[in-house]
Amino acid sequence: MIHNQIRVRQLNVRPPLFLAPMAGLTHSALRSLLLSFGGVGLLSTEMLSARRLPAESALSSPYLIRTAGEYPLSYQLLVAAVEEVVPAVEILHRLGADAIDLNLGCPAPRVRQAGGGSSLMADPARVRRIVATARRHTSLPLTAKIRLGEALDEQILQEFCRMLAGEGIDLLTVHARLRREPFGRKPRWEWVGRVKQWLKIPVIANGGVCSVATARDCLRISGADGLMIGRAAVEKPWVFAEIAKEVYGEGTGSREIDLPRIYLEMVTALAARFSPERRLGRLKEFTHYFARNYMFGHHLAMAVQSSNSLEEAWSRALAFFARHAPDSCLPESVPNTGSDRLSAGPG
Ligand SMILES: Cc1cc2nc3c(=O)[nH]c(=O)nc-3n(C[C@H](O)[C@H](O)[C@H](O)COP(=O)(O)O)c2cc1C
Repeated sequence: MIHNQIRVRQLNVRPPLFLAPMAGLTHSALRSLLLSFGGVGLLSTEMLSARRLPAESALSSPYLIRTAGEYPLSYQLLVAAVEEVVPAVEILHRLGADAIDLNLGCPAPRVRQAGGGSSLMADPARVRRIVATARRHTSLPLTAKIRLGEALDEQILQEFCRMLAGEGIDLLTVHARLRREPFGRKPRWEWVGRVKQWLKIPVIANGGVCSVATARDCLRISGADGLMIGRAAVEKPWVFAEIAKEVYGEGTGSREIDLPRIYLEMVTALAARFSPERRLGRLKEFTHYFARNYMFGHHLAMAVQSSNSLEEAWSRALAFFARHAPDSCLPESVPNTGSDRLSAGPG
């Protein structure tokens, strides 16, 4: 049965649609754009290194800048050592976090070498101490995000998930792929269903949800309590609103899908929030996904990629928009099973 909200401690997530944390993408500008369409139950930061967090300024760090409307917002922590937990949690309290998520799934070699992300799944004893410490120091919703592991092993996965719930994790998101599996691989939603059966806490399915149709399929196959959406949120910032309406019966307003206008809003929001040297890289990341709305989107992506300033990128984008109609920006998105630049990518 599909419920249109999840209660996680004091937080109501309605609808149960979660923005996936994505490095370089889920910053304040994207979150505001998503809110303008509606339908997101819980926003997210990108992963924040617990070790580096004390050195970041809430007013100028691109990882921490947040505007008033960005609520509720979950902060994702990348923790490698137990000692990093308490100082990081205290900072998140001061920043007004609405939830704290622990990254236990990132497969990026850089992150694994530092002892974080998916490398932690191989060290359940350390994870247990990290979770228990975090749990003792916060009454905020404490969530975790995992992949399915190194290889399909029901016993290892089950013990790990039960341990997380036993130590006080309030909600678990499962990215339905093994550590080495690229984004092009079909997600294993049925394995999210197994995790769901083992646990009493809400389980959220992640991986490959990019449309109303894939949302329905994923919910049917996994029986999950909600969905987390990553890349499709960047490509089609209206995708949450569509799923909220069609799957959960939640009206979200009727903002028009006008691609050049959406792009202009992103450029403007980046300029308003970030220092000049932080803007262009983020626009390039956004464009990599957003350009997929156009048949010749690779021209847009390349033009922006080779720009030297935000202004130059915008004027090149304008020239592109003048020449090209969107490929398809109809309310139903086309499932994207193609390869990805970050094919063995994070998360
Ligand atoms: C560019 C990029 C950056 C990512 N960064 C993170 C991250 O910071 N933390 C994390 O847990 N997962 C990260 N992920 C993984 C996503 O959260 C998500 O699990 C993955 O993209 C699958 O969901 P999707 O098919 O809806 O995109 C990242 C993915 C991408 C593409």
